[in-house]
Amino acid sequence: MASRLAGKRLIVVGAASGIGLAVARALVAEGGKVVIADIAEDGGRRAAESMGEHARFVRCDVSDEASVRAMIEAATEWLGGLDGLVNNAGLQRAGPIETFAATQWDALMAVNVRGVFLATKYAIPHLVASGRGSIVNTASLAGKRGGPGIAAYAASKGAVMAFTTASALELARRNVRVNSVCPGFVDTPFNQPAIDFMGGRKAQKDLVKIMVPLGRQSTPEEIAPLYVFLMSDESSYVTAQALSIDGGVSN
Ligand SMILES: NC(=O)c1ccc[n+]([C@@H]2O[C@H](COP(=O)([O-])OP(=O)(O)OC[C@H]3O[C@@H](n4cnc5c(N)ncnc54)[C@H](O)[C@@H]3O)[C@@H](O)[C@H]2O)c1
Repeated sequence: MASRLAGKRLIVVGAASGIGLAVARALVAEGGKVVIADIAEDGGRRAAESMGEHARFVRCDVSDEASVRAMIEAATEWLGGLDGLVNNAGLQRAGPIETFAATQWDALMAVNVRGVFLATKYAIPHLVASGRGSIVNTASLAGKRGGPGIAAYAASKGAVMAFTTASALELARRNVRVNSVCPGFVDTPFNQPAIDFMGGRKAQKDLVKIMVPLGRQSTPEEIAPLYVFLMSDESSYVTAQALSIDGGVSN
């Protein structure tokens, strides 16, 4: 087994599917012990089972403070401490601003922004105790560039980047690094609301061809290695960054 993360005790929030699932798999493959925290019970349990004894599922609604507190408590007990936290849970809702429901706005912010704050809040004492803590927040190209129909989502990811910078500066002297990862177009069902808004799969494919220098979407497995790097001691001098992994869009 590879061992870039040997002995690392890690939590991935939002790891029942898509990018988070690929990240959790990659972390376990590199020797990490990983808690999969997700609101999706069946998917989360299946994901953990597929990774063997080095992964465990803990249910968590990241928008709910009591649920996050309980998850961090259960996770750190099983892990025996905490060296890394990946805040990856996310929601996507698309639509024109003038008809976008305020309740949808609140739902997006509750998961994409409040959730990152809550998990960070309860993980901090454990990450400080580790002496080499690392937090990675999944932001998005959308948070840098925006786009039609995704104003609320873009605003939520812009907030994640600002929170990342501020928390990195706040935690630097306690040896906790904080970075965000900004994927571009990743092929998961997550984007369906935005694809519907654009007019379907073909319209999205055409946009990707024009917009992405590499000319295609990525797979979740192509995104995961950046998280491995950021969770490992190889990135010990990297903090307060928003790292793009988007096929060359941000240049
Ligand atoms: N797919 C893309 O193109 C893309 C691009 C940039 C950024 N992202 C970001 O990547 C992250 C993962 O997205 P994905 O594409 O893998 O989608 P996904 O839907 O496969 O994964 C999101 C995960 O978050 C979980 N989740 C949702 N609400 C939750 C809650 N309240 N509490 C706990 N878990 C919750 C879901 O159950 C799911 O497992 C998201 O933050 C998303 O914004 C995705």
